[in-house]
Amino acid sequence: MFHAAIAGTGHAVPETVLTNEDLSRLVATSDEWIRTRTGIQERRKAKEGDVLSDYAVSAGQKAMEAAGITAKDLDAIMVATVSPDQLIPSMACFVQQKLGAKKAAAWDLNAACSGWLYGLHIGDSLLQAGKAKNVLLIGAEFLTRFTDYTDRTTCVLFGDGAGATVLKATKSDHGVLSTVVRCDGEGANTIQMPGGGSTHPPNRPQTLEQNLPYIRMMGGETFKMAVRSITEVCKEVLKESGFEASEVSWVVPHQANERIITAAAERLDIPKDRCIMNIERYGNTSSASIPIALDEAVRSGRIKKGDLILFTAFGGGFTWGAALVRW
Ligand code: ACO
Repeated sequence: MFHAAIAGTGHAVPETVLTNEDLSRLVATSDEWIRTRTGIQERRKAKEGDVLSDYAVSAGQKAMEAAGITAKDLDAIMVATVSPDQLIPSMACFVQQKLGAKKAAAWDLNAACSGWLYGLHIGDSLLQAGKAKNVLLIGAEFLTRFTDYTDRTTCVLFGDGAGATVLKATKSDHGVLSTVVRCDGEGANTIQMPGGGSTHPPNRPQTLEQNLPYIRMMGGETFKMAVRSITEVCKEVLKESGFEASEVSWVVPHQANERIITAAAERLDIPKDRCIMNIERYGNTSSASIPIALDEAVRSGRIKKGDLILFTAFGGGFTWGAALVRW
């Protein structure tokens, strides 16, 4: 039976760097507070006029080049995002048009920071079912467009970027071994952007007057839930595929907070130096964070053929999940 191998990776981020010092001139915060509480030193910020689908396309082209395929080979394009170019059409349609991927079906998926993991789960299922041979899975966000730069509890966290992966059908021992995705809608109010949808449409003056199209988060509750959920789901995916934590070569986690990653790694008994981290340079880029971190680790030669990779993410919804992949 076929399953998905991650055949190529790529990423693209805006050039403009927003440092902790820059933020300390906007809100009552400090480089020291941000570094020690989150691990973030700087993040990228799109310029006015930048279009997110252009970054998604650039990341996607690099991933296809690495996989040795062209846009004509794509059967499906999935874009995980909470900050698409527009609500209609989906961002994946813009990506499909810009790539010239004529035979690819295309759609967006919203699972907040767990979006790429949900996409891996769906993409692997499509390949297993024989419905596709090549799927381009992108995570792309311009979170700074929905960040309230008067709210110090959120504005220090978020950054912009895009990461892409080509999922290729294979019958080999390499590729996805297991995926587990979860949701608890009871957490809906803990991380949210209340304005911009049909409850508070963007075309109503009160939506803007009440400051609704911005990301709001109860950080402490998210933190505790994230550590607990990530730990549980990683144990579940390891058990399901018959591996021990000690056999994991690398953990590629969603980059939300260095302390969340460290706490989960401790509970899993996985040394911190086996966790791929780039949060210090990009902050939290939501669905883009795993594919960006993965691409950097692959291109720098840290991840090698045969490695056992544990992916995990937690985000708005709540949504969370884990996947085990033989590289
Ligand atoms: N600078 C200085 N002080 C700050 C800042 C800041 N940027 N932000 C908050 N504080 C203050 C608070 O006001 C509070 O002050 P008080 O004690 O006087 O009330 C104090 O620092 C402690 O605040 P906490 O919220 O308890 O700080 P905590 O250590 O929990 O760190 C953080 C906050 C970084 C947000 C952390 O809770 C976190 O990372 N949470 C999880 C984030 C996450 O995983 N998000 C997931 C996905 S996001 C998505 O899906 C889009």
